Amino acid sequence: MAIDFKKHIASIQDFPNEGIVFRDITPILQDPKLYKAATHELAEYAKSRGADVIVGPEARGFIVGCPVATELGLGFVPARKPHKLPRKTVKAAYDLEYGSNSLEMHVDAIKPGQKVVVCDDLLATAGTLRATKQLIEDLGAKLVGAAFYIELPDLKGRDLLPDVDIYSLVQFHGA
Ligand code: PRP
Ligand code: MG
Repeated sequence: MAIDFKKHIASIQDFPNEGIVFRDITPILQDPKLYKAATHELAEYAKSRGADVIVGPEARGFIVGCPVATELGLGFVPARKPHKLPRKTVKAAYDLEYGSNSLEMHVDAIKPGQKVVVCDDLLATAGTLRATKQLIEDLGAKLVGAAFYIELPDLKGRDLLPDVDIYSLVQFHGA
């Protein structure tokens, strides 16, 4: 029987700011069967897209993307917040649902022409995904898909990336 992942996501009102409902995936991570099942769903998706590499944006994208890469026998590339990576990087700025930041990737992290699937916990405004896409394309690689545990369709992140194939395990509508 298909797993109802939605009932294992905690919703916290007014966190980290008033008016925001934080969707918390940690109950899934704490349960080895659920974490493995969620990983498998995203891995099947990434395989179907022909991924050569998995990219995960810091920090929750590491939690989601690393086991996907391992399951598929692929490499994992971190897109990190500023001043964390020690070698030459490409950089892209982005706006979040709350705040702004930038992401960096090592210039030799992905080879030109490689097919990349991005994994993360949540698609909200798609600022993070857009910046990650820019980094991937700056390195001459191709974003062939993006996979999330959660999507907030009301924020219309997909509309900003009409050419990107997006997969999500669960969707939350409304605030
Ligand atoms: C959160 C979340 C996604 C992003 C989604 O990351 O993990 O990466 O926001 O929002 P967006 O679609 O509007 O960009 P955040 O930068 O808050 O921090 P973390 O992953 O380091 O916890
Ligand atoms: Mg994040």
